[in-house]
Amino acid sequence: MTRGAPSAPRGAESGVCRYAGSRRRTSPIGIGLVGAGFMAKAHTLGYRAAETVFAEEMPTLRQVYVADVDARAAHAAAARWRWGRWTTDWAAVTGAPEVQAVDIVAPNHLHAEIAIAAMREGKAVLCEKPLADHAAAAYEMYRAAREAGVVHQVGFVLRRWPAIAFAKSLVEEGRIGRILQFRASYLLDYALDRRHPATWRLQSATAGAGAIADLGSHLIDLGRFLVGEISAVMARTRTIYPSRPGADDSAVPVDVDDATELLVEFDNGATGAMEMCWMAAGHKLDISLELRGDEGSIAFTWRRNGELCLYRSPASAEVDGWTTIIIGPNHPGAEAFWPLAGMGMGFDSMFALQARDFVTSVADGKQVTPSFLDGLRASEVIDASLRSAEANSTWVEVNHHQA
Ligand SMILES: NC(=O)c1ccc[n+]([C@@H]2O[C@H](COP(=O)([O-])OP(=O)(O)OC[C@H]3O[C@@H](n4cnc5c(N)ncnc54)[C@H](O)[C@@H]3O)[C@@H](O)[C@H]2O)c1
Repeated sequence: MTRGAPSAPRGAESGVCRYAGSRRRTSPIGIGLVGAGFMAKAHTLGYRAAETVFAEEMPTLRQVYVADVDARAAHAAAARWRWGRWTTDWAAVTGAPEVQAVDIVAPNHLHAEIAIAAMREGKAVLCEKPLADHAAAAYEMYRAAREAGVVHQVGFVLRRWPAIAFAKSLVEEGRIGRILQFRASYLLDYALDRRHPATWRLQSATAGAGAIADLGSHLIDLGRFLVGEISAVMARTRTIYPSRPGADDSAVPVDVDDATELLVEFDNGATGAMEMCWMAAGHKLDISLELRGDEGSIAFTWRRNGELCLYRSPASAEVDGWTTIIIGPNHPGAEAFWPLAGMGMGFDSMFALQARDFVTSVADGKQVTPSFLDGLRASEVIDASLRSAEANSTWVEVNHHQA
């Protein structure tokens, strides 16, 4: 035997395979991405990871086109993340015939115009949260989606996190009885730094609102997902630093909330308390929630995101206590990742789950949730919260547009 050349075992087989998935399509789904910032990276990773993790069920994808108003960002996204073409004009993406699905990861005030243009071109749309900068625009998007008859999805990725999806199934099975209370918080501390610049997130013209839109939209969606529709709110919003450094070091006024506390009432009689803040010292990325029912409770925190804590009213006092469930292949969304519980998933895994759901629904032509209707409902709660805060934190009914 020649040194260095491993011998093939007797009967060895080999072959060439362009795509191993069982759903191989003659024409792949062309994706167009609008925005090339933080979320563009997360969504790109999502598509790539989904193709590996969910190979069996995934249609083939083509990363056709990326747009960003900043040419350097668009070019870098294309070069680094393997998008086929780049442009500074988002309309080139929404109008491109090779694009069947448009993914919007641009600032909030642009969502409606881009999504509506894409849907009128017959494209499916995945749009980041909050669906729009205010509820009226979100409603226009929902109506346009209905009219176009295309698949529409909003980026409430936390719903897909396996521990949270499992919490939902426990609630549906009645394992903690009737839900009495929901408590959730989304805390960060990056904006405590006074030098943090006046980005689009800190201006109502581009973001719609501050922490309540950026972080609160996720919590509101989780409340709706796990408990039910929200009927009334009472909010207190606060802008902690009234200005932030602009590009030329000038002081740019901040007109959105840095910290918000929100009390909610659900249609089914449950009540809730939510807190959202990007100036909470020591909290790097803390998302926590608790569901309290009349037969038990469920608790989750992102800090231990591979676990879910369940408390059930005990049969006897000696075994009264919480159970920690280790998330793994027996839990929804985690099945395809790793063979053993406790191996762990990361922030990027949520985007793989979202990408899987989006492209398979485009391939099947089947609408999935969270849809633009879920985006609209969250925006209605945000609008009501801002009205409550303006009215000195009085209780305000949520105005629901007709579905
Ligand atoms: N799902 C989540 O957990 C999550 C997390 C972060 C952000 N988001 C959402 O994602 C969206 C984008 O946020 P981000 O953090 O990526 O912001 P970002 O600032 O990092 O990126 C936004 C990009 O959009 C580009 N842009 C601005 N105007 C444009 C235009 N006219 N055409 C094309 N591109 C334009 C900017 O140049 C920038 O590169 C927001 O709606 C945000 O709320 C969601």
